[in-house]
Amino acid sequence: MINIKDLKKSFDGFEVLRGVNLIIPANQITFIMGQSGTGKSVLIKHIVGLLKPDSGEIWFDNQDITKLSEKELQKIRKKIGFLFQEGALFDSMTVKENVMFPLKEHFKMSKKEIEEKAEELLSVVNLLEAKDKYPSELSGGMRKRAALARTLALQPQIVLFDEPTTGLDPILQVSIMELIKDLKERYSLTCVVISHDVPLAFKFADRIAFLHQGKILVEGTPEEIKTIDEPFIRNFIESALI
Ligand SMILES: Nc1ncnc2c1ncn2[C@@H]1O[C@H](COP(=O)(O)OP(=O)(O)OP(=O)(O)O)[C@@H](O)[C@H]1O
Ligand SMILES: [Mg+2]
Repeated sequence: MINIKDLKKSFDGFEVLRGVNLIIPANQITFIMGQSGTGKSVLIKHIVGLLKPDSGEIWFDNQDITKLSEKELQKIRKKIGFLFQEGALFDSMTVKENVMFPLKEHFKMSKKEIEEKAEELLSVVNLLEAKDKYPSELSGGMRKRAALARTLALQPQIVLFDEPTTGLDPILQVSIMELIKDLKERYSLTCVVISHDVPLAFKFADRIAFLHQGKILVEGTPEEIKTIDEPFIRNFIESALI
């Protein structure tokens, strides 16, 4: 579905991505893991064209999206939803208005249809009862679910989740991941999840890719990753399980 080829990116002479190669298969949940500051967020920002690489390619829909203009990227961003690490809801809008916003921008629907669609999406993420609240009145988990409903409003084929569960209690972490998995099945989504959470990745990932020192060090199914004999990976996994 997405093919990342030899992607390189430096900031102020510091090489963050040093030739990333990764295939993200359709209708699967791919986890991208790795230490803080290794470039996971930088990597997925390239997939929606928020950052331009110094070199390398990202193939999606038979085109290299790194070469597209801002106007052409708008079309791509309808197909690839992005859930920011910080959630990024509009504080001055209620939850329902937040979900209605992309519908108004991108679809020719009546006000009534937009309201109905927004309520349908909020019920999918179990947040209908909070539809008239403002983001500041929500808990962290509710905010993540509201942002998820807003991302889904554009009916993307792919959703990139930047740490969707970080900062939530363990029960909520599992429930957010179960929600992502349900949505994947319901809408045939391709999901990319950035996470540090090893048990969660083992439970929910179809594939896991480790970003380390600017490259994908290993990539495979959870079963393959569990048995891989690579010192950094073993240390990462074992540190998470003590
Ligand atoms: N816009 C930018 N300008 C300059 N440097 C940046 C920019 N964005 C990221 N960086 C640098 O790139 C490196 C990787 O950052 P990134 O946010 O991708 O890390 P991460 O793997 O997502 O970490 P975390 O797990 O803490 O979220 C960091 O050294 C960061 O300071
Ligand atoms: Mg990050």
